[in-house]
Amino acid sequence: MARLEGKVALITGAAAGMGAEHARLFIEEGAKVILTDVDAAAGEALAAELGESALFLTHDVSDAESWAAVVEEGTRTFGPITVLVNNAGLSGPYAQTAELDDATFNRLVSVNQYGVFYGMRAVLPGMVEAGGGSIVNISSAAGMAHLPGTTNIAYTGSKFAVRGMTKTTAIEYGSRGVRVNSVHPGAILTPMARAINDPAELDRTAKSIPIGRFAEPREVSFPVLFLASDESSYVTGSELIVDGGRLAG
Ligand SMILES: NC(=O)c1ccc[n+]([C@@H]2O[C@H](COP(=O)([O-])OP(=O)(O)OC[C@H]3O[C@@H](n4cnc5c(N)ncnc54)[C@H](O)[C@@H]3O)[C@@H](O)[C@H]2O)c1
Repeated sequence: MARLEGKVALITGAAAGMGAEHARLFIEEGAKVILTDVDAAAGEALAAELGESALFLTHDVSDAESWAAVVEEGTRTFGPITVLVNNAGLSGPYAQTAELDDATFNRLVSVNQYGVFYGMRAVLPGMVEAGGGSIVNISSAAGMAHLPGTTNIAYTGSKFAVRGMTKTTAIEYGSRGVRVNSVHPGAILTPMARAINDPAELDRTAKSIPIGRFAEPREVSFPVLFLASDESSYVTGSELIVDGGRLAG
């Protein structure tokens, strides 16, 4: 049997990068998938390619008000949402703390941290009513340790927050059948990684990784699939690091 047969998954930031790959793999494994993103053109095109198991909705995860409508429309189309992948995220520029302006700080925190809170809050009542579910919050290797020279205090802080919020909700909802875990990707070749690294930087980073290279998005999709599926039925409140060994030292 397919690994996500009977599941309805909502994946945020699913028009590009890792979110798009998670959506592809989830559908291959039998799920119905609600893809959301601020990029409507790319999201609509991907959903059309994925066929009738996919529904695309334009949505900004940092907009608290609109979450209810997204959950309602997704549920009306496919039934109760039993998997949420909070994937949408922004990285922002490399900057030291005294150089980071308010607008950049607020935007990163509102998408990376508030967006994850809003998403969990919006789906939890329906998941409990449906008898349970799985929430996968995409943090970062930078949510385990600051990665010098790569990002900024808002990104690192918001990704640490995702890890902490994951544990709170996992403990609160464990007895009601909802599992909540965080995933911590390292260096993954997506539009985000290409936007913040020039080719020489990509090469330097690759050399610093024990496995010696960046990952392809699908190498993160399989760990996310495991956490979304019933194969991880006893895994909650945990951190799955997918970084080619970068944090092992
Ligand atoms: N690429 C990496 O190396 C890496 C490493 C660690 C963690 N991550 C995390 O993984 C997740 C996915 O990263 P990626 O590399 O695939 O990114 P990406 O930039 O390639 O794709 C992110 C998608 O999210 C969408 N998005 C941005 N803001 C949004 C918002 N407010 N609401 C809804 N959608 C929004 C974008 O339009 C885009 O389609 C992010 O949370 C990121 O922080 C990435």
